[in-house]
Amino acid sequence: MNIPPIDLKAQFKLVQKDILKNIREVLSEQRLILGQYCTKLEDAIAQYVGVPSAITCANGTDALILSLMALDIKEGDEVITTPYTFFATASSIALMGAKPVFVDIEKDSMNIDPGLIERAITPKTKAIIIVHLFGKLCDMDRILSIGKKYGVPIVEDIAQSIGARNDSGMSGSFGDIAALSFYPTKNLGGIGEGGMVLSKRADLGEKVRKLRVHGMGSVPYYHEMVGINSRLDEIKACALVAKFPHLEAWNRKRVANAMLYNKRLKDLPVVLPHIKDDLSYIAHQYVIRVQERDRLQEFLKQKGIATGIYYPLPLHLQPCFSSFGYKKGDFPVAEEASLTCLALPVYPELKKAEKDHIVASVREFFKG
Ligand SMILES: Cc1ncc(COP(=O)(O)O)c(C=O)c1O
Repeated sequence: MNIPPIDLKAQFKLVQKDILKNIREVLSEQRLILGQYCTKLEDAIAQYVGVPSAITCANGTDALILSLMALDIKEGDEVITTPYTFFATASSIALMGAKPVFVDIEKDSMNIDPGLIERAITPKTKAIIIVHLFGKLCDMDRILSIGKKYGVPIVEDIAQSIGARNDSGMSGSFGDIAALSFYPTKNLGGIGEGGMVLSKRADLGEKVRKLRVHGMGSVPYYHEMVGINSRLDEIKACALVAKFPHLEAWNRKRVANAMLYNKRLKDLPVVLPHIKDDLSYIAHQYVIRVQERDRLQEFLKQKGIATGIYYPLPLHLQPCFSSFGYKKGDFPVAEEASLTCLALPVYPELKKAEKDHIVASVREFFKG
């Protein structure tokens, strides 16, 4: 058996007809950038998430950069975030000339620990970027009340959590502004790079709409602010429009796979993700933590099972951030997670026999 980390070919089969039809239309119309499909995608996702503003852009990293630009983050500012996430969450802060101020994560959720945020706040704190890591919602009630208490805006990095929700709303609707990625391996993955900024605040939405086109407003070649070029191609938008109606079903299948693993691995000496039978976790990744991680990864590789390590080095220890003065031991929970985390394939197209093989192989490792 050969089980990849994600099976994009299987997913493409399901949506191929619709994508190709849309692409043919885009090519025959020759409206190639920021056209009707970008607008359709923006409208559909704004309605789904429940916010008034959705603005497509070139990728998720740009979505974070545009969000921070809209909030006027600049040199000398501090932005609080988690050290246990993909690089772009913190590099976007550094690119603004600001300092990423890391706060350790919770043991269970692997998300930023709300109990540690307040002591990291200083007069220089200008934003908090939270990440719903692996598709699991952060404790938004506590985070929002901290933001409110100190008057600090909340940025949601929803690159991994489109569709995750609780009784109060969808990921992307809680904070002031949110950054989404359509990187092909995401739960709503495109046919290339792509991203989107979402906001419930009209002022921020309007600003981002200008910032993504060099700061131009409605009058061409008059620049109200210095922006960037971060537009989305119609070919990519039309593929996402074709895939979007499947997102809910894909997310539910991912959660069902994750619950099945939890049920069948629960007696083993591994830390399993905490999963409720709802969509507060949409299983972007199914990450277990195990002391003998590297040996288990090699064992599964021999069994034809691809696994992933998200993330092998927490961000406070990245060489490029050494000037910020962090050191080993500063964020012990994140450091421990980096040494023990292992993502098993959880994509919606997994067949029963493949899931059985994954479970049986993990069990066999511990039997041995
Ligand atoms: C948590 C997180 N933030 C930001 C990004 C950046 O998105 P992109 O790769 O589209 O630039 C990603 C995805 O790679 C991510 O997982």
